[in-house]
Amino acid sequence: GRHLIDPNDLTLEEIQRIIDLGLNIYHHPAQYAEICKGKILGTLFYEASTRTRLSFESAMLRMGGNVLGFSDAATSSVQKGESIADTIRVLDDYADILVMRHPREGAPKLASQYATVPMINGGDGGHQHPTQTLTDLITIQHYKGEIKNLKVAFCGDLLFGRTVHSLLKTLSRYPNISFVLISPPELKIPYHLKNDILQNHDVEIIETHCLETHMHEIDILYMTRIQRERFFNEEDYIKLKDSYILNKDKLEHAKEDLLVLHPLPRVNEISYDVDIDPRGKYFEQAKLGVYARMALMALLLGVVESC
Ligand code: CP
Repeated sequence: GRHLIDPNDLTLEEIQRIIDLGLNIYHHPAQYAEICKGKILGTLFYEASTRTRLSFESAMLRMGGNVLGFSDAATSSVQKGESIADTIRVLDDYADILVMRHPREGAPKLASQYATVPMINGGDGGHQHPTQTLTDLITIQHYKGEIKNLKVAFCGDLLFGRTVHSLLKTLSRYPNISFVLISPPELKIPYHLKNDILQNHDVEIIETHCLETHMHEIDILYMTRIQRERFFNEEDYIKLKDSYILNKDKLEHAKEDLLVLHPLPRVNEISYDVDIDPRGKYFEQAKLGVYARMALMALLLGVVESC
């Protein structure tokens, strides 16, 4: 099977095919309601999730397929010490496509080495989250018409934020995208990632700790949660947890067509008054994630034509 572990596993042409197909499904869902009849998605979630697991399940059900899996490793034989390798060797026969979320970086990659069916990374620790990136890109294309000539700001936990890592890495492959990276000094993007991004000529990066400085000139503001579960001690988390709170006042000088995105869940980094601002599109983003995942699975299963 073909796997999706890292966003770089996909060419830009393949990503475009997923986005275009996803938007086509969004506009004409009835045409795709049976395409996965007889197919089974296995969801292996070793770490908490609402959107990723349920949007994958919804996506498969909306294409006429079925789902099985676990959302709590404590109720599976993982709890008895079963290895990832053995778990995958078994699930490989129970399902036609698998998605795994795991708190340990690299776990889905390891799993893919034992899978003959397509294996999808549903988020691995503080590393990568490629299907969130597909969700983000389908949202950008839907609202902006194309993915180029954009100033994109990322705000919050850029160090441990896997959604940030995957989207930054992918957007840096597109033409004329510049970045404003907003974080406390303790949560700046990992050095190796910054280095990778700067390999792509054309890319400009501004790093700042201030949310407001560049607000007037950005096209996309990608807010993220300060993630309690990634800190080694509670004290460090408490010190940083309220670093950024976006509210209506802070959007006063922002562009009219700014897109405020957030992978969700949020804690308090976006005030509820932004929910009713037309620029706040994070719930639409979560909705479009279902269509991105429908397109991805349809392509990986070979039930629609690829590029
Ligand atoms: N965006 C995202 O991955 O959400 P969940 O953690 O709820 O799956």
